[in-house]
Amino acid sequence: MDKFVVRGGNPLLGTIRVSGAKNSALPCMAAAILTEDEVTLENIPQVRDIETERKLLASMGAEVELGYGRAQHRTTISCRNLSDPVAKYEIVKTMRASSLVLGPLLARCGVARVAMPGGCAIGGRPIDLHLKGLEKMGAVITQEHGYLEAKTPRLRGAHIVFDKITVTGTEDLLMAAVLAEGETLFENCAREPEVTDLAAMLTSMGAHIEGAGTPTIKVRGVARLHGVRHRINPDRIEAGTFLVAGAITRGDLIVANCNPAHLGAILSKLEEVGARVDILSSDSIRVRADGALKAADISTQEYPGFPTDMQAQYMALVTQAEGVSQVRENIFENRFMHVQELNRMGANISVEGRTATVRGHSHLSAAAVMCSDLRASASLVLAALVADGESILDRVYHMDRGYERIEEKLRGVGAQIRRMGNVFAPREEPGNAD
Ligand code: EPZ
Repeated sequence: MDKFVVRGGNPLLGTIRVSGAKNSALPCMAAAILTEDEVTLENIPQVRDIETERKLLASMGAEVELGYGRAQHRTTISCRNLSDPVAKYEIVKTMRASSLVLGPLLARCGVARVAMPGGCAIGGRPIDLHLKGLEKMGAVITQEHGYLEAKTPRLRGAHIVFDKITVTGTEDLLMAAVLAEGETLFENCAREPEVTDLAAMLTSMGAHIEGAGTPTIKVRGVARLHGVRHRINPDRIEAGTFLVAGAITRGDLIVANCNPAHLGAILSKLEEVGARVDILSSDSIRVRADGALKAADISTQEYPGFPTDMQAQYMALVTQAEGVSQVRENIFENRFMHVQELNRMGANISVEGRTATVRGHSHLSAAAVMCSDLRASASLVLAALVADGESILDRVYHMDRGYERIEEKLRGVGAQIRRMGNVFAPREEPGNAD
């Protein structure tokens, strides 16, 4: 199992580059199922979840090229021959976002067999809203031996109001609706940039979609979609993680290849904490923090509110702020796995239900800590960057799922971090993944 060795104390200085968004690339790769033509996606991040999606599509009969040549991170996918519309448990158990193939398979093939994703470290992660919407569009779905069996002669348009805002639920059903017969009206949709990115790709393929990025999306189904070349959005959570890294190390960091328009809530909170944030251009932001940091509360919300995927990283930051910060997690029921590890490094955090109380300013000292999920791992790296001494972070395969070569990027701006073990070798990871 790979580990990171991190020696704290260096301010991050210079320019760090953001990769493409994992959570955009995953639905966009699944959207290739919707056409017989070739689909090319650019700005794909070199992370484990993309490799998992490649294996998943290939296992169904798709031809998937995935290249990380010097200039281009790109994949070309052809789903002309989808011989086996099945998402097998061996793959789904390592990445629950595999359920994103359900809607496209039903829309393209009229049949799908998808292993139930099960829960993960941060929560139960049900997909009942996906299934409820697909049934309303005419799918017949049964559950047997841990698999969902879904079939339909042809999906038809419907009026679907999501009981809860769900990102992949919105994406899954959007992909089902674009080939359905007639019009579909979605209400209470997720507004995340990843939904908008997928809708832009589908529109370029010939879909008729209005309202992506708002709570109400209207789709007029078409008979078929054609191929496309589409560039994936920058990863707003990776960008936010690097902005926090610049602030927590009291550095002077430029985060490049990002989209400031997707980072409003994060930038505003960084300023409230006392960091200096300057938007330099349409794709770069400068963050500095040389004075004391001040405590500030957050409450995670759906986009455009403060993202749950930045909650753990923010918590590491406010361990270094003067005063008491309340961190409330409203989206997932168990997303405080990083708390005990941060406390082992000297933080002073207590949890009551969905609220963590962070008493700063703590002196963090290096320790051997365990990564538990993707964003908790990022939180531990941030804490280790300012801890006194050398920390050892175990099970960094969690990070490799969603951060491209993060140790190389951080070393490039002055962090003392190195990996022990082989570099990013895609392999099965034990247990369920978030
Ligand atoms: C997406 O997960 C992201 N993953 C998550 O990022 C992110 O944390 C989450 O959205 C929230 O922003 C991808 O895009 C691949 P949800 P998703 O459906 O779609 C409940 C990361 O770190 N719910 O928006 O699975 C659910 O339990 C990952 O990159 C239902 O009850 O999240 C949760 O409480 C982690 N029934 C809430 O809704 C459903 O059918 C929001 O979940 C679906 C969801």
